[in-house]
Amino acid sequence: MIDLKPATTGLDSYTMLCAQLESLLADERDFIANAAQFSAFMFNQLENLNWAGFYLNRNEELVLGPFQGQIACVRIPFGRGVCGAAAATRQTQRVEDVHEFPGHIACDSASNSELVVPLVKDGRLIGVLDLDSPLLARFTPQDQAGIELLAAIFLRLTEC
Ligand code: SME
Repeated sequence: MIDLKPATTGLDSYTMLCAQLESLLADERDFIANAAQFSAFMFNQLENLNWAGFYLNRNEELVLGPFQGQIACVRIPFGRGVCGAAAATRQTQRVEDVHEFPGHIACDSASNSELVVPLVKDGRLIGVLDLDSPLLARFTPQDQAGIELLAAIFLRLTEC
């Protein structure tokens, strides 16, 4: 088993997290297994999260995938809320205060900020990676860059 160390949020720590994720996923390509591991990895290694996981593209609708956290909304139309905006635009959504985001879907009332990264492989939208925090403005531009790197590692090492 890899040695997991406490994480902070600087870019140096993302360099370490990237190496750990490479190691964690090195011997497996199955989508569900890797998505479940990646969700648990983020939930436990990143500070101040209350939800971390996947929504998957099922015929232009997002459907809940592997995650860690409280039970969540199952289906989200493209274009709706933060996840739907990430899916529709294929652009990462970094939201400092979800209560000010039009159409935000409050699955867990503890969430105050959110980062959603679209997962695109070979031009196909696989789904989105959703991270929620109870803190306002939890996710910095450095967090966005680091988590986009982690998502790229997941996509490269996973069949999807
Ligand atoms: N808040 C999200 C919905 C998903 S949950 O946070 C797990 C949104 O507005 O897309």
